[in-house]
Amino acid sequence: MIEKNNRLTTSWGAPVGDNQNSQTAGQSGPTLIQDVHLLEKLAHFNRERVPERVVHAKGAGAHGYFEVTNSEISKYTKADFLSEAGKRTPMFIRFSTVAGELGSADTVRDPRGFAVKFYTEEGNYDLVGNNTPVFFIRDAIKFPDFIHTQKRDPQTHLKNPTAVWDFWSLSPESLHQVTILMSDRGIPATLRHQHGFGSHTFKWVNEQGQAVWVKYHFKTDQGVKNLDVDLAAKLAGENPDYHTEDLFNAIENGDFPSWTLHVQIMPVEDADTYKWDPFDVTKVWSQKDYPLIEVGKMVLDRNPENYFAEVEQATFSPGAFVPGIEASPDKMLQGRLFAYSDAARYRVGANHNTLPINAPKAPVNNHQRDGQMRFDGNGGKSVYYEPNSFDGPTETPETNVTPFDIHGQAGTHAYSHDDHYTQAGDLYRLLSEDERTRLVNNIVGAMKPVEREDIKLRQISHFHKADPEYGARVAEGLGLAVPAE
Ligand code: HEM
Repeated sequence: MIEKNNRLTTSWGAPVGDNQNSQTAGQSGPTLIQDVHLLEKLAHFNRERVPERVVHAKGAGAHGYFEVTNSEISKYTKADFLSEAGKRTPMFIRFSTVAGELGSADTVRDPRGFAVKFYTEEGNYDLVGNNTPVFFIRDAIKFPDFIHTQKRDPQTHLKNPTAVWDFWSLSPESLHQVTILMSDRGIPATLRHQHGFGSHTFKWVNEQGQAVWVKYHFKTDQGVKNLDVDLAAKLAGENPDYHTEDLFNAIENGDFPSWTLHVQIMPVEDADTYKWDPFDVTKVWSQKDYPLIEVGKMVLDRNPENYFAEVEQATFSPGAFVPGIEASPDKMLQGRLFAYSDAARYRVGANHNTLPINAPKAPVNNHQRDGQMRFDGNGGKSVYYEPNSFDGPTETPETNVTPFDIHGQAGTHAYSHDDHYTQAGDLYRLLSEDERTRLVNNIVGAMKPVEREDIKLRQISHFHKADPEYGARVAEGLGLAVPAE
């Protein structure tokens, strides 16, 4: 007799006698419906997939820790996990590509997601960023349209370069990010050799209730390395999981990747007068104006035990804040505060936060009850509403969101800053001659398949406005002339 806890069982825990042959009517007869183990096994298999993420579907994850190295940072934020040098917080990160499906190749030209979950003693803090400091658009209302152009054409089910460049050329705020994407940094050598950014501006609040605006920069300690385009294309065919494999193997071999986190801090009063709108995610803040301040180190030292449980079911939300960190009025961020938890409820379920990978290490005390797949005891028999005359958790008024003055009329407002060219041009002018040549070649290669000349010309004039040489070289590569103003 096999030991009880080593028996193959049905999903209801009964021993399975034969897992190789289904029950049939006689040796060659049809299968019997009474073979409930077979029914359960087939039915469960049909339900193995959860919907893949609508963006950032392909990803790789790792566990690690974050350690503060600079106690001074507590001047700016009361966030407990940043309170003093030496404080360590467990974290989980998921890297991803944006546009491809779950099975797509890693070494494509695409931004990389950089989603970090800090399991702090005050609840989970998610910083859901990218490997770029800016983004293509700056209002959440444009996101579904933008992503449609990055995904497959509804008829051909192919990628559609005409749609991509049509949208970008009609959304010139994308120029800065397009320049980064088409540069060498568009294809990182590995997930370890890239920086990470919070991209948006966030608000930090200290113990005295004073606020500052903040931007996050994770600098890779491995150094930035990128892939040559021909090698990237070869790898995409030969080993589509190249980045996933590299990260797993590095950690498995004890070669733990790390990043040093820095922040830029802007006094709140500067926001009205700074030369750029500090809440416009298509723009960076000059590091001369707001220098980097070191915060701490993030080290990845443990691979997931199970990909589905820990990486596929991981849910991140830019709205998962802890006391000391709050939202800014960035119009992209504001939309994202809704989008992610909504996606998580749809993709993983109403109780996604109770799964081990998503559950805070801090106690969760509230009166949210029931819902599909509630497996954590559901609050037991304790009081299930609030306020009540019995007992239960109490509010912590000192963690209330910091008051913030606003003025103006409710309505649809365009951004007041419309210079999409200076920062893209500054980036172009920073590149070496070789880097510019590769940038232009990448753009020309990507734009050649665009079916309409007016779209190409419209985009060329954006490059031209960023830097006349930039526009002229792209135009030349496409066999066109820079359009007259
Ligand atoms: C309004 C604009 C945006 C919307 C509506 C949006 C929406 C989404 C949605 C629905 C997902 C899938 C989430 C899931 O199924 O679990 C996602 C994933 C992601 N997005 Fe965004 N996104 C926006 C902008 C951005 C920006 C600006 C960044 C980076 C700065 C970003 C970074 C990410 C990352 C890293 C993931 C993957 C998270 C993970 O690893 O699970 N997104 N986004």
